[in-house]
Amino acid sequence: MTSKFIWVAFILATLTLSITFSLQPDEQKVLLVSFDGFRWDYLYRVPTPHFHYVMKNGVHVKQVTNIFITKTYPNHYTLVTGLFAENHGIVANDMFDSILNKSFSLDTMNIYDSEFWEEATPIWITNQRAGHTSGAAMWPGTDVKIHQSFPTHYMLYNESVSFEDRVAKIIEWFTSKEPINLGLLYWEDPDDMGHTLGPDSPLMGPVISDIDNKLGYLIQMLKKAKLWNTLNLIITSDHGMTQCSEERVIELDQYLDKDHYVLIDQSPVAAILPKEGKFDDVYEALAHAHPNMTVYKKEEIPERWHYKYNSRIQPIIAVADEGWYILQNKSDDFMLGNHGYDNMLAEMHPIFLAHGPAFRKNFTREAMNSTDLYPLLCHLLNIPAMPHNGSLGNVQDLLSSAAPRALPYTQSTTLLHGSVKPGEYEQEESYAYFIGVSLGSVIVIVFFIIFVKHLIRSQMPALPDMQAEIVQPLLQA
Ligand SMILES: *[C@@H]1O[C@H](CO)[C@@H](O)[C@H](O)[C@H]1NC(C)=O
Ligand SMILES: *[C@@H]1O[C@H](CO)[C@@H](O)[C@H](O)[C@H]1NC(C)=O
Ligand SMILES: *[C@@H]1O[C@H](CO)[C@@H](O)[C@H](O)[C@H]1NC(C)=O
Ligand SMILES: *[C@@H]1O[C@H](CO)[C@@H](O)[C@H](O)[C@H]1NC(C)=O
Ligand SMILES: *[C@@H]1O[C@H](CO)[C@@H](O)[C@H](O)[C@H]1NC(C)=O
Ligand SMILES: *[C@@H]1O[C@H](CO)[C@@H](O)[C@H](O)[C@H]1NC(C)=O
Ligand SMILES: *[C@@H]1O[C@H](CO)[C@@H](O)[C@H](O)[C@H]1NC(C)=O
Ligand SMILES: [Zn+2]
Repeated sequence: MTSKFIWVAFILATLTLSITFSLQPDEQKVLLVSFDGFRWDYLYRVPTPHFHYVMKNGVHVKQVTNIFITKTYPNHYTLVTGLFAENHGIVANDMFDSILNKSFSLDTMNIYDSEFWEEATPIWITNQRAGHTSGAAMWPGTDVKIHQSFPTHYMLYNESVSFEDRVAKIIEWFTSKEPINLGLLYWEDPDDMGHTLGPDSPLMGPVISDIDNKLGYLIQMLKKAKLWNTLNLIITSDHGMTQCSEERVIELDQYLDKDHYVLIDQSPVAAILPKEGKFDDVYEALAHAHPNMTVYKKEEIPERWHYKYNSRIQPIIAVADEGWYILQNKSDDFMLGNHGYDNMLAEMHPIFLAHGPAFRKNFTREAMNSTDLYPLLCHLLNIPAMPHNGSLGNVQDLLSSAAPRALPYTQSTTLLHGSVKPGEYEQEESYAYFIGVSLGSVIVIVFFIIFVKHLIRSQMPALPDMQAEIVQPLLQA
């Protein structure tokens, strides 16, 4: 009887210890969120308490240099590949590939041709190849078949699906029986309203407040699902926005014969494909057409843009000065806000904030390159990075100095109840973990000593009997 009791006690104690240890993740969970067109300084336009809550308890980078052209699809693909546009192949929202003889257009949602995406391998595929699972709520490209795969879980793009429904999916995937380790969440604003109103409009205040409330909702849901302290939340964007005006329009029709070229992409980087034999005519007519538009032959595009070596970059590009608008015909669509300009311009820069066990707290960094996010993500997920143009070393100081893979992780529910002060319950979690490990260890050691003593004293003579019992069935067979 006593020996059975000791066995049970020993197993229980071992379980306590192993559960405490097994709750530590082998790799970190990451949720990457993009609020499209969230310019870096929107954080200071109106009160944004939820963004500031993340900053105070996490990290914040003030100036993120994104990639040229500062458009949605090129930059979202950079965030998940670490490559410049010329290397990942999504060089614009509207493209023509002269080798494939195919077009790509965000305007008409003609974006599902795999070939456009396959010059790179996005992180969700690498994550899955490493044996993990990923989930994507409408991140650009995540409902496209790339290298024969989709994310493990994904939603078909539908801009009418609410933020709340997207968050619900993300939470469901992170808490399922086979939880994802990588989640990607995308929201269309403040880009949409920024284009319509122009970023200088006072009406942008409520738009930014609304995004802050959405972040608050996400944080609330993550806390409710007991994910807030265990996953690494990264909040960023693809680009900023600048104010345009109908006073600053450059009309191509004034300088060029429409029959001499095809306009592949519009403003502020006009991608121009001259018709057969018309290259010189088009270039000459455009080169000095307007003081606020710089015209480049493809081979003259500045190196710093890393925007040259790809067949989807057209023979001539015309780049507008900040706030200037290129239209073929003045009657074409015009928007009060736009982006796509030189990536050196501060107004083109997005936000970057992060919170979680891997990140430092209340830490601000002046600058980073958006290409550096990819190696950071690979590091957090503990997966091999594909060749890329970023550097983990550039952003390593965002990570907490305490070894990121051995941070507190418990499923304790009671301690989390009703906690409001963030710093407080993070500490409570550490204590719970510490107490769990210590208690478990003490119990195991005590019972091990008792067990060994017991074994030596009383079990030894019984050993021959036990052996006999084991041998018996064999003899009977
Ligand atoms: C390119 O595709 C178009 C149809 O989309 C076709 O009319 C044209 O002949 C093709 N050009 C070449 C060179 O194959
Ligand atoms: C898009 O989502 C909305 C809202 O959930 C839904 O009513 C609509 O049917 C969806 N559209 C498509 C094409 O699935
Ligand atoms: C537009 O061009 C004029 C003349 O060169 C220049 O003074 C002005 O700074 C330019 N505007 C911008 C936004 O660069
Ligand atoms: C611009 O568009 C208007 C309306 O479609 C048209 O009447 C006009 O001729 C166009 N201008 C040029 C220069 O093609
Ligand atoms: C955060 O850091 C700033 C400056 O480094 C400091 O003034 C502030 O007190 C810190 N806040 C907290 C909550 O630690
Ligand atoms: C961004 O990348 C450039 C070119 O590789 C590098 O010179 C610069 O230091 C990087 N910026 C930061 C903030 O790491
Ligand atoms: C960017 O990375 C790709 C892939 O490693 C490489 O081929 C390319 O040369 C890099 N670009 C620059 C400017 O270093
Ligand atoms: Zn965008």
